[in-house]
Amino acid sequence: MPDIWKKSTEPEGEKPTVIEAKGVWKEFKIYHERNPSLKETLLKGRRSAYESFWALKDVSLKIKQGTTVGFIGENGSGKSTLLKLLTKILRPNKGSISMHGKVSALLELGAGFHPELTGKENIFLNGSILGLSRKEILERLDEIIAFSELEKFIDSPVKNYSSGMYVRLGFAVAINVEPDILLIDEILAVGDEAFQRKCLNKLYDLKEQGKTIVIVSHALDSIRNICDEAIWLEHGEIKGSGRAPSVVDAYLDEVNRQEEAAAGETDQPETGSRWGSGEVKITSVRFLDKEGQKKSLFITGEPFLVEIDYEAKEEISRPVFGVAIYSRDGTHINGTNTKFDKTIFDKIKGWGTVRYEIKELPLLKGSYALSAVVYDYSCLHAFDHHERGYLFNVSSGEISDYGVFNIPCTWSLKE
Ligand SMILES: Nc1ncnc2c1ncn2[C@@H]1O[C@H](COP(=O)(O)OP(=O)(O)OP(=O)(O)O)[C@@H](O)[C@H]1O
Ligand SMILES: [Mg+2]
Repeated sequence: MPDIWKKSTEPEGEKPTVIEAKGVWKEFKIYHERNPSLKETLLKGRRSAYESFWALKDVSLKIKQGTTVGFIGENGSGKSTLLKLLTKILRPNKGSISMHGKVSALLELGAGFHPELTGKENIFLNGSILGLSRKEILERLDEIIAFSELEKFIDSPVKNYSSGMYVRLGFAVAINVEPDILLIDEILAVGDEAFQRKCLNKLYDLKEQGKTIVIVSHALDSIRNICDEAIWLEHGEIKGSGRAPSVVDAYLDEVNRQEEAAAGETDQPETGSRWGSGEVKITSVRFLDKEGQKKSLFITGEPFLVEIDYEAKEEISRPVFGVAIYSRDGTHINGTNTKFDKTIFDKIKGWGTVRYEIKELPLLKGSYALSAVVYDYSCLHAFDHHERGYLFNVSSGEISDYGVFNIPCTWSLKE
């Protein structure tokens, strides 16, 4: 992320509120009997059964002029619905929404495009939806096409466009109508790297010009960096709001907690394969805090203990126990064993527990998987190998660093 994404530090107090939602509720009806039988239709009449679904429940928010705000939350939490209410595409069932200024929006992929029309024709269609006259669009046409970089395809029907091409065209139109308020749904995920950067730089320009921007995105790093504030939606309700980095962190912590709850007990391998000849068997693996309490969510810098229970059916001399830590994307972060660490167990027989201890866990926020293994002294013969069978999560706590590791450091300035 470029350094240019400095947070605005000026006090927001004096700026006028340009977006306000008060007690907004939005209901969708989900119809069940799509093809009722003739008998059912005759018995029940023409009414089809539907379930009422509240996609937004009592949402209130205020956004001040010049603020960049991110909407975050899990799939289906109501982010796009809220954005559509702000654009007035949808109306709330209860509550009110007021917007001050010219609004331009880039909604979900393909929204506002006609598939049979060409790129250029869609610029006119989109531009007029966003309130531009034909003359105004003509004046901006070259700039829009240039920004989209779709010169070669601009006379082809957009139904043949890729999703990235749709976003290019949509974004190019949305920013060229000179809005006071720009509402954007998930552009950061679709465009290629170069176009994403171009969009981010453009957003930064608009932010500098004092425009109000609302971004819906799952790209949490971008939200953390671009946005002054964030609003976290869950099941149609505002679960958190405030400064973007704190809201993003709170949301990530919740996701980790849920994942931990879903992972449940770590005693049995949940993922990954297992192999080995079985003279020694790993019977259980536990993650513990320094008091010996079981847990699977750790904070960066705190002690991290793993206990590996084993059963050796016969006497085994010089067994080698090992662990490996992987990030969830499969990167092998560290692997070590008792032999590397010069801890030789002479022989084992029967039941026992091996303890692996990290005094200060250096890992940053994320989900990790641990392999637990026991091999012979040559490390060539596996008695029992559980590959990435045990899951744990880390929260960075007070640390805001990016990446996998906390690397302690200091900064200084020389002039
Ligand atoms: N037109 C509609 N008819 C019925 N249900 C709808 C309609 N639009 C949205 N919903 C429902 O409302 C809920 C919120 O949807 P919404 O699109 O706002 O979620 P979202 O937060 O944008 O999710 P995502 O991150 O997946 O984009 C979902 O359960 C969705 O199925
Ligand atoms: Mg959405």
